[in-house]
Amino acid sequence: MNAVVVREGETKPTVIEKPRPEPGEGEVLVRTLRVGIDGTDHEVINGGHGRFPDGSNHLVLGHEAVGVVEDPNGTRFEEGDVVVPTVRRPPNGTNDYFERGEADMAPDGEYVERGIVGAHGFMSEYFTSPEESLVDLPRERAQLGFLVEPISISEKAFEHAFAARSAFEWDPESALVLGNGSLGLLTLAMLEASDRFERTYCLGRRSRPDPTIDLIEELGGTYIDSRETPVSAIPGEYESMDFVYEATGYAKHAFDTVEALAPNGVGALLGVPGDWEFEVDGGRIHRELVLHNKALVGSVNSNVRHFQAAVDRLEALPEWFYDDLVTGIYGLDDLDAAFADDDSTIKTAVEFSRI
Ligand code: NAP
Ligand code: BGC
Ligand code: ZN
Repeated sequence: MNAVVVREGETKPTVIEKPRPEPGEGEVLVRTLRVGIDGTDHEVINGGHGRFPDGSNHLVLGHEAVGVVEDPNGTRFEEGDVVVPTVRRPPNGTNDYFERGEADMAPDGEYVERGIVGAHGFMSEYFTSPEESLVDLPRERAQLGFLVEPISISEKAFEHAFAARSAFEWDPESALVLGNGSLGLLTLAMLEASDRFERTYCLGRRSRPDPTIDLIEELGGTYIDSRETPVSAIPGEYESMDFVYEATGYAKHAFDTVEALAPNGVGALLGVPGDWEFEVDGGRIHRELVLHNKALVGSVNSNVRHFQAAVDRLEALPEWFYDDLVTGIYGLDDLDAAFADDDSTIKTAVEFSRI
């Protein structure tokens, strides 16, 4: 079968031939429909994040998959069921985090991530997955199923961030998303659809005309250009924010978020930056957090519960949004377009087969 890989020493995806996987006990064989691409895939390809599976000189890419059950192999599934796989797997047999269904909370060494950290991903014609790591998707949603994984990332981040405000009566009015990549835009759409916030904002570093700025405004958000208004200046220029969701991977934004937050606000940090040393006013940040009851929550990955919530959320977002967000679905003969990193590309997926 064909698989899209990045090989050791290379920074460009390639198609190679690999044997079709055989499902082991408790595993399902899935025929891949589509696999989405996000900023993490670019980081993996460029060597900034993740690692190859032990003993392998290549990594099959892809962690945002949707497929059709080809061989249920004695599991609860039936042939033809549409499924979405979660990303993390236990490295050597199971462990407490996986037993509890909380693989997303596992520390380093207690998990691998398919297509990212130490395990081959889903960007191949077929993949196998343990039954418990597959989530059902209504058949009519199959085409957009590759968005379930990124939506689940924000389901988890919202859950953890809002839980940090659950000890008092929190009535947020404003939300700011840092980053107009696919994760930032999906999250802005989720915040809008939740009807919880009166004012929403999304930060980028682009000039008009730009399709992401159009999308932000169509969603009802206000675009903020970080070149004109750095995050720390947002309270003076606009207002301070009750909720900030960081999806730029720009390390200074973690600290600037504290400045942008209103008293009692919470910031969720999602970006995965590389090492970068810079100066911050640590005293001020510490004081801001304490004297204004602010919280910062880091969040990574997501579990089956978040995937199930994401399946429901997929229904709740407007169709026009998906039409604008997904800028291309490409076959294996057009990987350059699928992995393009230009301003006209928002969200793309590689298509392996049709339902
Ligand atoms: P992406 O497509 O690379 O989006 C990042 C966006 O942030 C880009 O649109 C970029 O703008 C913008 N940006 C970067 N620095 C900026 C700055 N200083 N001011 C304004 N805008 C800035 O990535 P993504 O897929 O949306 O993901 C976002 C981040 O979340 C990545 O770091 C990714 O690794 C991480 N992530 C984390 C998780 C998790 O579980 N924690 C899950 C998924 C993704 P330009 O395009 O104009 O350069
Ligand atoms: C994936 C997560 C993963 C994270 C860190 C994200 O892009 O969506 O599942 O845990 O990267 O590797
Ligand atoms: Zn991702």
